[in-house]
Amino acid sequence: MTETQETKGGSPSRRALIGWGGAGLALGAAAAGGAMAMAEVGNDVDPAAADMGGAVEFHGAHQAGIATPVQDRLHFAAFDVKTDDRAEFVQMLKDWTEAARRMTAGRPVGEGAYGGLAEAPPDDTGEALGLKPSRLTLTIGFGPSLFDKFGLHGRRPAALADLPAFPGDNLDRARTGGDLCVQACADDPQVAVHAIRNLARIGFGKVAVRWSQLGFGKTSSTTPGAQTPRNLFGFKDGTRNIAGTESDRLKKHVWVGDGDGGDGDAWMTGGSYLVARRIRMNIETWDRTPLQEQEDIFGRDKGEGAPVGKAKEHDKPFLKAMKPDAHVRLAHPDSNGGITILRRGYSFTDGTDGLGRLDAGLFFLAYQRDVREGFIPLQRRLSAHDALNEYIQHVGSAVFAVPPGVRDSGDWWGRALFSKEA
Ligand code: HEM
Repeated sequence: MTETQETKGGSPSRRALIGWGGAGLALGAAAAGGAMAMAEVGNDVDPAAADMGGAVEFHGAHQAGIATPVQDRLHFAAFDVKTDDRAEFVQMLKDWTEAARRMTAGRPVGEGAYGGLAEAPPDDTGEALGLKPSRLTLTIGFGPSLFDKFGLHGRRPAALADLPAFPGDNLDRARTGGDLCVQACADDPQVAVHAIRNLARIGFGKVAVRWSQLGFGKTSSTTPGAQTPRNLFGFKDGTRNIAGTESDRLKKHVWVGDGDGGDGDAWMTGGSYLVARRIRMNIETWDRTPLQEQEDIFGRDKGEGAPVGKAKEHDKPFLKAMKPDAHVRLAHPDSNGGITILRRGYSFTDGTDGLGRLDAGLFFLAYQRDVREGFIPLQRRLSAHDALNEYIQHVGSAVFAVPPGVRDSGDWWGRALFSKEA
């Protein structure tokens, strides 16, 4: 498919937005090509900015934003579906895909932010013009409640299990659940925010944002060669994560395999399951906790990040040297029958809570092949025994089926789920 066709069949044009759908449809390929050319010129798209690197390939067997080296910033949004018209929802997914394809390449949505019809709002909101692609990745997920709609009932994978209530959970309903989600990661926060904003705008009337979360300071790395980031408790986080280059471990623990869950779940092959938890961290209490106690809680030292009794961060942990309730001892695969998840979380601070305390914490994101064999048993153990529980509280929660990647320019997010032949 050519770019002209993609653009024509993609994001709603400004004419469509002001009800000129008929006129828009009547446009021939040549006219659509003209609009495209106008967008390129009208928005002063700097070819250097789009081509200068910093763009992550949107197409592939898996969605970008999972094994991709973790970017610095996050804007995550969960949406509720507002339409009961399946065709309208599918068209929105196609429009989203086209917009995502353009934005991840550093291009504006549709006909751009200016230079088009003066009588209509522009297709793109404009705040990312002139910015580099900033390694933007957009990753879509489908929540359990989506499968109650659009005749999808029989297509919900068993691995997309509802999360049980864990001890200590204090979930805010307004920050929990969602029919679908989009995870936007980028090295520039404005690029991530622009992407979610424009998808929400395209989805107007069909979906509405249920909750969203901004994140900074990645708390997990998928690039072990790089310096391990630190979380808001000041400890290195992500030391023993799955690396984006470890294809064997990704295949074993993250990507849904051929035949997982039986025929009905075949549409998920190459996808993954995402658990998102908004975890509030009691910063003020932590900051009054002695260093030794802090290190005991994790089972690692604060400076180097070395496991108890070891000298270097990447030394193999000797779990029995740690306190029985140390976080790392409890979370380590050897304590959990080999359970391994890919962590991709971010720190957040959303101002103060009205009592003078920071509303801050970890927006925990974890990808796995099956939620029943990943997050659920792990969190059962942690929520019951982890010494860290005195300093944290889970206040938001959601789980999503993250479909496989968009293969090429003719493919779209959710095709395998919504197409009968898949
Ligand atoms: C605010 C909450 C949390 C904080 C501050 C935190 C912090 C840490 C830190 C500092 C480490 C050691 C460095 C590393 O290997 O990455 C670690 C390891 C780990 N955490 Fe957490 N964590 C939190 C919540 C969770 C949750 C909810 C889970 C899963 C249910 C989890 C799973 C793990 C795992 C699997 C490891 C690696 C253990 C190993 O292989 O040695 N963490 N975490």
